[in-house]
Amino acid sequence: MKASVFIATSLDGYIARENGDIDFLSGDASPNPDEDYGFQTFFDSVDALVMGRHSFEKVLSFGEWPYRVKPVFVLSSKHVAIPDELSDRVEVMSCSPAECCSLLAKRGMDHLYIDGGNTVQRFLQAGLIQTLIITTIPVLIGSGIPLFGSLVHDIKLKHVHTQHFDSGLVQSRYEVIA
Ligand SMILES: NC(=O)c1ccc[n+]([C@@H]2O[C@H](COP(=O)([O-])OP(=O)(O)OC[C@H]3O[C@@H](n4cnc5c(N)ncnc54)[C@H](OP(=O)(O)O)[C@@H]3O)[C@@H](O)[C@H]2O)c1
Repeated sequence: MKASVFIATSLDGYIARENGDIDFLSGDASPNPDEDYGFQTFFDSVDALVMGRHSFEKVLSFGEWPYRVKPVFVLSSKHVAIPDELSDRVEVMSCSPAECCSLLAKRGMDHLYIDGGNTVQRFLQAGLIQTLIITTIPVLIGSGIPLFGSLVHDIKLKHVHTQHFDSGLVQSRYEVIA
């Protein structure tokens, strides 16, 4: 099983404001409105998304479901209501990152897209993420929900590639050194 992160952060390392707003991610109008920063290629490469409950609730608030028919697994220790129209593609799981990877591997999945700050941190701590693709937005927001958190030991990364875009966004790809 391979697991990857594709996420955007402010330059000071936040993926959302404290209240969950992600308004700063869209930034100024891009000079190239068709630029997707490699998202579609990445999305096509994954078999499923695994996201934390907070991220799921945020995506639901958009009104339009962005992940089409791709399977989405929502991690939560609580009861999470899934809208009827998503019940064929969204499932709630309550398990450790290791159990989640093992269960989904048994269901034939090879590559997972891990999303949500807290969830990414738990999978990183468990040594289950191989690739991080981080797009940095040129803005400081001062406080918010951090992408990374405390660790019990260092996680070494290998820088693979950095690309900058006319919009000012900078995207770096790292592989986790096992
Ligand atoms: N900048 C970006 O590209 C980007 C990407 C994704 C999300 N976001 C934003 O980030 C915010 C959400 O991030 P977040 O760090 O607050 O939370 P999150 O990772 O989306 O969700 C955290 C919640 O997921 C559940 N969870 C995670 N791992 C679990 C496990 N192994 N077992 C059971 N439950 C587990 C827990 O929910 P329970 O409390 O129910 O147990 C936990 O409180 C949202 O505002 C979202 O819009 C931004």
